[in-house]
Amino acid sequence: MATAGKVIKCRAAVAWEPNKPLVMEEIEVAPPGAHEIRIKVVATGLCHTDLYHLFESKKKEGFPAVLGHEGAGIVESVGPGVTKFKPGDKVIPLFISQCGECKFCRNPKTNLCEKGWSNERYDVMSDDMSSFTCKGKTILQFMGTSTFSEYTVVNEIAVAKIHDSAPLDKVCLLGCGISTGYGAAVNTAKVEPGSTCAVFGLGAVGLAAVMGCKAAGASRIIAVDINSDKFEKAKVFGATDFVNPTELSKPVSQVLAEMTNGGVDFALECVGNVGVMRSALESCTKGWGVSVLVGWTDMYDFSARPIQLITGRTWKGSLFGGFKSKDGVPKLVDEYMAQKLKLDDFITHTMPLHQINDAIELMKHGKCIRTILNVCPE
Ligand SMILES: NC(=O)c1ccc[n+]([C@@H]2O[C@H](COP(=O)([O-])OP(=O)(O)OC[C@H]3O[C@@H](n4cnc5c(N)ncnc54)[C@H](O)[C@@H]3O)[C@@H](O)[C@H]2O)c1
Ligand SMILES: [Zn+2]
Ligand SMILES: [Zn+2]
Repeated sequence: MATAGKVIKCRAAVAWEPNKPLVMEEIEVAPPGAHEIRIKVVATGLCHTDLYHLFESKKKEGFPAVLGHEGAGIVESVGPGVTKFKPGDKVIPLFISQCGECKFCRNPKTNLCEKGWSNERYDVMSDDMSSFTCKGKTILQFMGTSTFSEYTVVNEIAVAKIHDSAPLDKVCLLGCGISTGYGAAVNTAKVEPGSTCAVFGLGAVGLAAVMGCKAAGASRIIAVDINSDKFEKAKVFGATDFVNPTELSKPVSQVLAEMTNGGVDFALECVGNVGVMRSALESCTKGWGVSVLVGWTDMYDFSARPIQLITGRTWKGSLFGGFKSKDGVPKLVDEYMAQKLKLDDFITHTMPLHQINDAIELMKHGKCIRTILNVCPE
């Protein structure tokens, strides 16, 4: 590769500050250091967590940054010590690492790894280290991935090598949203055959949770969203009932309890709203109901009445669907290629990276499920 060992100048969408549109800039991407991989990004999705960082959390320390954490690409070059990847490999950068050695990686109960950016950096959502500069300034790599750039550099513990013929403009969605929602149902909630489920929030994450509930054999899946336009898609993924809380005269948890003879077996919150988290918990049946937090927020405390848990409900959370990232993602890619997992149905829009602000507007106004941004040609 002519570029190996050299700084690459390329285009990236830079978030200079919170609450402002992204700006297409020329950035410099350093060659990969020890155990790092430089990746040519081919395609990326836009996930609500990118919007959370830009518009909701507004932590000034997390800027300037290149957002994007749902991408797929091709290895351009590798740094010293990298033996399991070579230029030309198809890969998905991962926002959760899997070093394979830390106490979390060695424990089958969790997919957290203590070596990645996320180790105590949830406030800033990136590491101090970055391979990017622009106009003489260091640009942070959001969630360690930064897929809104033609090239990015990621540590090998946060890269999954995938099937050589995987379509990158589809499987990029396994870098976050689809793995997250699907895994939250099958791995974290452990939805059971014949059970009744409710999914709150029908973006890609929630729809993937619906798909997971269906795959696990749920007999009834109640889709809940304040935007009724989302119900048609939810049907495609297996939802059987549809509830819009804004059209009810009673709390949604009460309506769900009446629909299900006392509450659902599993309720997944895929919105990122502490009020909805409480509703999801209260929609569960006493005795054994399980509610899973999937929506991303770290700004407010949540509340609930202790009696909800004392009477047998379980409240838990799920990061990246509980999948150990390097092991899980290649398997999910294979499942998609064997037509056991849907991805295409999540894609409602496709556009080039430089239209990223249009993609952001679509998501902000609930007009898309996933927009795929084409970054570099393969
Ligand atoms: N835990 C994780 O690892 C992880 C990973 C990816 C995304 N997330 C989070 O998951 C959430 C969903 O992401 P997405 O990309 O699907 O977002 P999205 O914006 O596409 O979808 C959110 C949906 O929630 C609906 N909604 C909003 N308020 C609601 C309410 N009060 N009741 C019911 N529905 C409501 C919206 O209409 C929309 O359909 C976000 O919070 C995101 O940050 C978490
Ligand atoms: Zn995401
Ligand atoms: Zn680890």
